[in-house]
Amino acid sequence: MNEEKIIVMDMGNLKGDESLERPTLCLGIESSCDETSAAIVDSNRNILSHIIYSQIPEHQKFGGVVPELAARAHILAIDEVIKQTLERAGKTIVDIDVVAATAGPGLIGGVLVGWMAATGIAHATGKPLVAVNHLEGHALVPRLCATVADGTNGSTAVEFPYLLMLASGGHCQILLVRGVGQYELIGQTLDDSAGEAFDKVAKMLGLGYPGGPVVDKRAQGGNPKAFKFPRPLCDKPGCDFSFSGIKTAARTFLDKNPAPHSEEFINDFCASFQSSVVDCIINRLGNAMQDQRVINAAPKTLVVAGGVAKNSAIRSAMEKLAADNGMIFAAPPMNLCTDNGAMIAWAGLENYKIGNIVKEPIAPRPRWPLTEL
Ligand SMILES: Nc1ncnc2c1ncn2[C@@H]1O[C@H](COP(=O)(O)OP(=O)(O)OP(=O)(O)O)[C@@H](O)[C@H]1O
Ligand SMILES: [Mg+2]
Repeated sequence: MNEEKIIVMDMGNLKGDESLERPTLCLGIESSCDETSAAIVDSNRNILSHIIYSQIPEHQKFGGVVPELAARAHILAIDEVIKQTLERAGKTIVDIDVVAATAGPGLIGGVLVGWMAATGIAHATGKPLVAVNHLEGHALVPRLCATVADGTNGSTAVEFPYLLMLASGGHCQILLVRGVGQYELIGQTLDDSAGEAFDKVAKMLGLGYPGGPVVDKRAQGGNPKAFKFPRPLCDKPGCDFSFSGIKTAARTFLDKNPAPHSEEFINDFCASFQSSVVDCIINRLGNAMQDQRVINAAPKTLVVAGGVAKNSAIRSAMEKLAADNGMIFAAPPMNLCTDNGAMIAWAGLENYKIGNIVKEPIAPRPRWPLTEL
């Protein structure tokens, strides 16, 4: 493993509570896609250490994640990532109370690596083991650490129930989060995820992988009204999404206007594409707020999570939507949006608290919808 590629997450001033006397310590392990990550988080919301080993440079030349390469890279990295996570927290495995790892959904070769490492540690030490649903990691991390509209650490504002926009590389769902393991699906994409749309449009423009961050950055210097992109389903009732039409519109336009493109063209194209994604998200969330199940549950907080939650335009549009509807807006800090071990450790702690530990051997799952928890 290339030591230079290990990213030690700087927790800055993200401090949790100090109220409880002997907090429970959880070691969380994430390996479902192209990040090998581990973190130690305590039940007082403190992140003691957090390491992310990103494989992005290994996949960049292929324009996307290659599952077989990802699985091998996880094997090479996992021991060192766990070892350094313990060392940086000043802990040994004996100090850990609970071991948690992603058990799906994700690329199964990678999931197996992290899951087997966690299972081995739990068996060897007799510690309880939690099988974390990766999407539940994204969904619950705002309760570990979140920024609310006034810029403070508002994780305590993210109380159940909350309305969640989960937008990641593989998923795009609106969920009513009633509690740990209690998810009601309000809407979801019928085709691509929002993250996939960002990645594919970036690829068409030759902007590399992953596409979301670069499109976000380019869009900041562009005119969102320069090109006309469709807003699929926005004239229809309901809360479902469809992004394939936006992607096809991009492809068709670029076929008629091939490269080379000016910097201005690329910026305007990114801004116009992004604004159509933002409009779809806001339109669908607006409908979700009128859904009878949501009205009955009366969530106080609107939350965004998943890698796409890093997007500046989506964050500010959702913040406005929440304010217009008398809701609090909360989002995880940037470094807890994309895949990370801290979200798995936190979901591990939340599940451990309600007794949801592994009692007999389980098989990791490539598909594992939140509604099946
Ligand atoms: N600033 C941004 N704007 C838009 N999209 C972004 C931004 N930053 C990252 N992304 C997108 O987030 C996605 C990665 O998110 P994440 O790590 O949560 O996905 P994943 O783990 O691959 O998918 P899943 O969680 O559904 O299994 C990528 O598609 C990436 O382009
Ligand atoms: Mg993810």
